[in-house]
Amino acid sequence: MKIGVCYYPEHWPESRWALDAKHMTDLGISMVRVGEFAWSRLEPAAGYYQFDWLQRAIDTLHNAGLKVILGTPTATPPAWLIKNNPDMLAVDEHGQMRGFGSRRHYCFSSEPYRRECERIVTALAKHFGEHPAICAWQTDNEYGCHDTTISYSESALAAFQHWCSTKYNGIEALNLAWGNVFWSMEYKTFEEIGVPVGTVTESNPAHRLAYWRFSSEQIKTFNKLQVDILRQHSPGRDIVHNFMGNFIDFDHFDVADDLDVASWDNYPLGFLTRDGTDASDQQTYLRTGHPDSSSFHHDLYRSCGKGRMWLMEQQPGPVNWAPFNPSPLPGMVRLWGWEAFAHGAEVVSYFRYRQAPFAQEQMHAGLCLPDGIDDDAAREVKTLGEEIKLLAGIDTNMQQASIALLFDYAGDQAARIQQPGGQNYDPLVFTQRIYSVLRQLGVSVDLVSSAAKLDNYKLIVMSNCTVSDTALSNKLAKCDAQVIMFPRTGSKTAECSIPDQLPPGVFQNLIDIKVTRVETLPNAIRMTTNNQATVVDWRERIEANFPAEDVFDDGWGFHYRNSRIHYINACPDRQTLLALLAARLDECNIPYVDLGPGLRVAVRGKLAMAFNYGPNPVTLSDHLLKHYGFSEKTGFSLGQPALKPADIGAWRTN
Ligand code: GAL
Repeated sequence: MKIGVCYYPEHWPESRWALDAKHMTDLGISMVRVGEFAWSRLEPAAGYYQFDWLQRAIDTLHNAGLKVILGTPTATPPAWLIKNNPDMLAVDEHGQMRGFGSRRHYCFSSEPYRRECERIVTALAKHFGEHPAICAWQTDNEYGCHDTTISYSESALAAFQHWCSTKYNGIEALNLAWGNVFWSMEYKTFEEIGVPVGTVTESNPAHRLAYWRFSSEQIKTFNKLQVDILRQHSPGRDIVHNFMGNFIDFDHFDVADDLDVASWDNYPLGFLTRDGTDASDQQTYLRTGHPDSSSFHHDLYRSCGKGRMWLMEQQPGPVNWAPFNPSPLPGMVRLWGWEAFAHGAEVVSYFRYRQAPFAQEQMHAGLCLPDGIDDDAAREVKTLGEEIKLLAGIDTNMQQASIALLFDYAGDQAARIQQPGGQNYDPLVFTQRIYSVLRQLGVSVDLVSSAAKLDNYKLIVMSNCTVSDTALSNKLAKCDAQVIMFPRTGSKTAECSIPDQLPPGVFQNLIDIKVTRVETLPNAIRMTTNNQATVVDWRERIEANFPAEDVFDDGWGFHYRNSRIHYINACPDRQTLLALLAARLDECNIPYVDLGPGLRVAVRGKLAMAFNYGPNPVTLSDHLLKHYGFSEKTGFSLGQPALKPADIGAWRTN
């Protein structure tokens, strides 16, 4: 378990570098990410490379015993490059070209820009590839950040038309697949296809899903270009990208497939106020972040990275970009670091070393203040480093969980593209609610792609597998896990139409039911069944030749079951989900313990850790400790049973 930091030597006088490096090592830091936004300094004019300053910076870090993650600077093409290639800029949904003056202004489909990227990445890889300090490369920075996955530029359109011509066997096949006979949307040639925005009313869902898939593949090939160059010139180094939490606008599994490690950027307080957390949770967890937001992403990216996950950027204090930017509760910077390790992170790296006194992020905290003095985070990081040493010798190999929660990026999109009203139903928020309930029940969860192997799971949960997927259905038929499908499972074809046999499409092979009607519910409406199950947001009417487990007042059934296969045809609220999922855990013989709202426990190999996200102190009960294999003989490795808010405890499991 290593601690890292993001550092920008180009922002500071060279005379400070050695002092900074020394201070980093004093804080227990051993890895430093540099370079990802430095293009204008690395190549101030076309072909005029200036690598000597970065060489000196990396040497300085190396001399202090630090390892370096070098970022490729392709998120920040400099002004001269734009001037030479004005068509490389991305275009937003209103047809507005993205301007120069911040970052991520490029279009993934611009061939001239791809060639520029190849050039700078090759030059950097050749120069620094064998440097003994370089242990990893980061490609670009946060693909998709600032809503930049999808571009509607002319290059993107041409690439999309070509993409369509390779995916469909002729334009007639595309017309048929998309249902273009509707509203006379038929094309005669691939060149007539446009971008799916700027239409009078909504554009065709099939067109939108195709554009989403195309854009996602553009990121994959853009990233792969860099990966291939880096592998060639810098063998033996890990290649990483830093994904951003709560981004669903491209397939992260697909992009991560070409990497050695999936890393991600965690801003728990930013996410809390920005991303769909309900109002009362926002209040309770204002200074801690939601108890299940960080771990959701750790588990997701561990699986994107096929077991290898790093945290590349961890929030150190208030950020500058969310609607509200509160200060974290003292202890949280340490807690977030520990929690990442407990969910399998190999590295936890903080953003950023020193707060910048200039430009866009001057209101964003760092480990140190702009004057160089330690801020709160520096002290907490130092504590974390000291504590890591205390756990040496404990087996921390991650084990497969008993529960798989499938995560399907295309499925999330297919659900998102067409929702008849029902603004409250958000597929990502719903998936996170299910995850959160399972975590409250104290169990470990693997978040896996629907293409993953599903052997040896006892319980498989599907909340955003919207696409009727034969391979997945066959896999589920062969395993012996209990399977829970939530609403909208299999409700669309790969072309975003309703499947011929009606939802849940091909999953009818597992449970013989048919969704014949869906309704979306306004905010204040909660519907209750005979057995007091409460549902919100979304409900489906089912036709089946066997009775439901439960019934609503109006006669619609709730919860259909065919032996080990369950179909839950509405969105249960949190209480109902707790009961539903606990019943499945009982049946699957998965031991659990209800931890309540703010306490969480994670297990990594023989290490168990408890985290108090709640506003009140808690004491870990004997029952809980016994459940997680605590032994009086070995006792606590860190902390003790009484946990103040933002505190942690750790013990070796027997
Ligand atoms: C991330 C980004 C960093 C920095 C940070 C601020 O999204 O990768 O470069 O901008 O946000 O919170």
